[in-house]
Amino acid sequence: MKKLSDNRRNLLKFLLASPLISTAAFTQEFQMDEMDPDIQYLLNLQKKLIASPDDAINIFDLEAVARRSLPPAHYGYIATGVADERSQISNLLGYKKLKLRARRIRDVREIDTSVTIFGRKWPSPLAIAPTGHHRAYHNNGELAVARAAKNKERLMMLSNVTSTSVEEVNEARGEPVWFQLYARDHWPSSLKMIRRAEAAGCEVLILTVDMVGAGKRETQDRFMMMDRRNCSACHGDVRSPFRGRPMYEGVNLDDYLGAQELFNWDLIKRIKDTTNMKLVVKGITHALDAKLCVENGVDLIIVSNHGGRAQVDSRGTIEILPEVVAAVDGKIPVMVDGGIRRGSDIFKALALGATAVDIGRPYLWGLGAFGQAGVEKVIDIFDAEFKTVMQQTGATSINQISKEMLTS
Ligand SMILES: Cc1cc2nc3c(=O)[nH]c(=O)nc-3n(C[C@H](O)[C@H](O)[C@H](O)COP(=O)(O)O)c2cc1C
Repeated sequence: MKKLSDNRRNLLKFLLASPLISTAAFTQEFQMDEMDPDIQYLLNLQKKLIASPDDAINIFDLEAVARRSLPPAHYGYIATGVADERSQISNLLGYKKLKLRARRIRDVREIDTSVTIFGRKWPSPLAIAPTGHHRAYHNNGELAVARAAKNKERLMMLSNVTSTSVEEVNEARGEPVWFQLYARDHWPSSLKMIRRAEAAGCEVLILTVDMVGAGKRETQDRFMMMDRRNCSACHGDVRSPFRGRPMYEGVNLDDYLGAQELFNWDLIKRIKDTTNMKLVVKGITHALDAKLCVENGVDLIIVSNHGGRAQVDSRGTIEILPEVVAAVDGKIPVMVDGGIRRGSDIFKALALGATAVDIGRPYLWGLGAFGQAGVEKVIDIFDAEFKTVMQQTGATSINQISKEMLTS
């Protein structure tokens, strides 16, 4: 009996080493519980919980630690999209459907991954998306992310629902972040935050326009049901994403919360008339809106569906990107986020016309798992993978990445 199982194990090891056999075929033929744990790990069916960010092989190793370490309600807040997660899944599948067409016989020893946005050169097209409440994932919260962004020289966008003030974050980052605002018809709070971001030295304002209609975050609700802690000790009796947040000091939340669905293009004009900051609109998913952005003086568009957290049944953002790029016709830069999990995904976005990309959940996994070191590891993994893909496809600089290098 023992001999039979040893033979099976050896056969599995032999087959695993064979490039001709796909792992998918294995999982159908053999039951998981029959397998040697090492083989399960190789097949990525069961992740080992790493003890140090240095041990991470890919960004999902950090996700596994974050999931284990964080309170269920906090992990659920990162994980959730809306309803049955079709928008979030579309973001991920959009990238998987695209394949790379590589060029060969090129000298790819030197790879230049730098990009320039608003006249500022960055070493990589990978930026940090605005996400709220970082102290829910690590005590150092936004400061840990800012220090990682500083060490890795990364563009950092800061959410208006940050748990640390923009002044402190800018100091930790060593240069001003791009400050993100929610589009609401509550001008007093918008104006207050615009002036505060300006005074802190921020040169770029992001207006997020996709949080319209209350998103039904079912995954989050399910994780919250698993959480047995006394949440009111931190959250108080009335839970609100805005209450107690430093950028909302002095804002009448009753008025603010009532002002979600009222805005229109006048808000864009009003902001443009109010500030000299560059204006980025985040959350565009339609060519016609992209055109209107250009007509209304927007300086950069981020194609985004909020990581599948706002609208139900969205197309994957990588599928939306081409129509927005075509509509904008080179007049302003376009970025994209949502579902970027590999260096090859960055490559695909750039091949379809994005100037740069931003990531949300991946760096929050790093933060939740190991704080600043975890965020830095996530950035390192993306950088290494992206550089390798550039070498594999024969692109030595960003302007050599083109849509001819993709196929579906
Ligand atoms: C936990 C979490 C909080 C977020 N908070 C904000 C926010 O405050 N403002 C905003 O514009 N986008 C927010 N987003 C959306 C991100 O900026 C970004 O669009 C999205 O995370 C990209 O998708 P990805 O997580 O698949 O990378 C949040 C996303 C997550 C996961």
